[in-house]
Amino acid sequence: MSEFSAPGVLSPVISDVWDRERSWTLGAYRDAGGYEGLAKAWSYGPGELTQLIKDSGLAGRGGAGFPTGLKWSFLPPPDGGPRYLVVNADESEPGTCKDVPALMGNPHALIEGMAICLLAVGGHHGFVYLRGEVVHVYRRLMAAVRQAREAGLIGKGMGPDGDYDIEITVHAGAGAYICGEETALLDSLEGRRGQPRLKPPFPAAEGLYARPTVINNVETISSVPGIVRNGVEWFHAMGTESAKGHGFFSLSGHVKNPGQYEAPLGITARTLLDLAGGIRPGHELKFWAVGGSSAPLFTPEQLDVPLDYNSVREAGSMLATRAIMVFDETVSVVRVISRWTDFYQHESCGKCTPCREGTYWMRQVVHRLEAGRGRPGDVDLLYEIASNIAGRSFCALGDAAATPVKSGIELFREEFEAGYTTPARELFPYEKTTLF
Ligand code: NAI
Ligand code: SF4
Repeated sequence: MSEFSAPGVLSPVISDVWDRERSWTLGAYRDAGGYEGLAKAWSYGPGELTQLIKDSGLAGRGGAGFPTGLKWSFLPPPDGGPRYLVVNADESEPGTCKDVPALMGNPHALIEGMAICLLAVGGHHGFVYLRGEVVHVYRRLMAAVRQAREAGLIGKGMGPDGDYDIEITVHAGAGAYICGEETALLDSLEGRRGQPRLKPPFPAAEGLYARPTVINNVETISSVPGIVRNGVEWFHAMGTESAKGHGFFSLSGHVKNPGQYEAPLGITARTLLDLAGGIRPGHELKFWAVGGSSAPLFTPEQLDVPLDYNSVREAGSMLATRAIMVFDETVSVVRVISRWTDFYQHESCGKCTPCREGTYWMRQVVHRLEAGRGRPGDVDLLYEIASNIAGRSFCALGDAAATPVKSGIELFREEFEAGYTTPARELFPYEKTTLF
């Protein structure tokens, strides 16, 4: 349990072992009940595991929140050919930093979850696509896969009848944000340049090597063993009516104790901020990002919105990756949007015109405003460019780039307009923004 745990507030499940000595080892995981879910899973008949995950209400934790069991059930009936599981570990969204600690602290939850998912969908080979920059995670995951293989938990001839093969391959990408988009990830895994494919066909029908493929995020698959081990009721005891279970909330920015808070979905940002020790002393909350850099911004007014999919949507944003970035009154919104726009422009894969050209032009205009050299009409121009990217791009990256720009202007237009005459660094000096 984390030092900030309070009964009924946090719900450490994947992070439950983190405080144990060498929590990433097989021994520590097994001491905490690890691999009991897989042992149980062998007794399920065809379709029963997928139905269990459907009943649990587990939704994708990578950002989109798509129902996991439903996704597994989209695979066509077996035809004798291979069916794959691909775990998306290409976590790269600004502020999103949950999968790396989950893999470092508890890699066996993912391995166990992968084995269960492969059993559920009748597959034998799972891949983990890890972002290239995190070499330490790559090593840890490789070591954990080796441990699981040596312990006879995965490998050839598994199961009560000794006839089921479960292979896991860990693949390091080369550090492109677009390779977190599931079809670009598949292209990259197949050895091509990572660019999004046209959907449909969805990966469930035609994924890796054009075979039926389940693609899920690290946290989603790591949540599966707990459900199989403890049952659906246990999972339903956490969360809200529309969003079941537990999830990581990654707090960063001007909070006293930034970090990962694994809590029931539906917890509020106010409670999370309390658990994190509040805003740094002497300052007040100005705005916050609820789901990484691609969702509309929230202000203090939304602190009591339950952080579940429906409530956040109704309040005008997206739960997405639950990466809560907290900014106090010393922060220039224009500067934040400018950094995020730099990121999206740099990471745009260039396949479609609205995103490739639009992110470039957004960057030019927002940089002028940040420098206090805005031209008359620049704020409207910036808003118009963003509006022409949103909904007109080939993949979600275009929308992600446009959304914070539009939201920033809608909420803090006067700050953008100040950029006609005054540089952001004069209005919001860097030394005041600095954390501590
Ligand atoms: P999506 O809503 O298009 O799809 C979600 C999943 O459901 C996909 O796996 C898709 O294949 C599947 N799906 C949807 N409709 C289907 C159908 N009719 N048949 C079969 N399968 C179907 O969302 P997408 O583009 O996969 O993800 C966008 C989200 O990713 C964003 O909301 C963002 O929060 C998140 N994201 C996370 C990042 C990270 O670092 N963790 C980085 C960037 C974005
Ligand atoms: Fe590439 Fe951007 Fe178009 Fe996606 S929206 S396909 S990242 S250019």
